[in-house]
Amino acid sequence: MPRMTFIERDGSRREVDAPLGLSVLEIAHKHGVDVEGACEGSLACSTCHVIVDQGWFGKLASPTEDEEDMLDLAFDLQETSRLGCQIIMTEALDGLVVKLPAGTRNAGG
Ligand code: FES
Repeated sequence: MPRMTFIERDGSRREVDAPLGLSVLEIAHKHGVDVEGACEGSLACSTCHVIVDQGWFGKLASPTEDEEDMLDLAFDLQETSRLGCQIIMTEALDGLVVKLPAGTRNAGG
């Protein structure tokens, strides 16, 4: 099974199993990692914001316009920011590293 690593707000790294076909948000929830995901993947919030490791960012499928729009509202936006619910685990992403942002802002209300 692929693995992925979350870098938590305090800098600690958590390497977890990352089942194929699950989103980064679902993987975080499965392992009790603190990614909120208020709209459960329907692109109506930005609380699933994660910052993708530089080396991995280019390997992800490009964000849709809807994702870009939501990301614009995210707190602590960085160049490699993505929405966790839109990153789906594939074999190619085995070893993926993402960092949790400093905080979230729920734009969905
Ligand atoms: S969970 Fe709301 S946009 Fe990802």
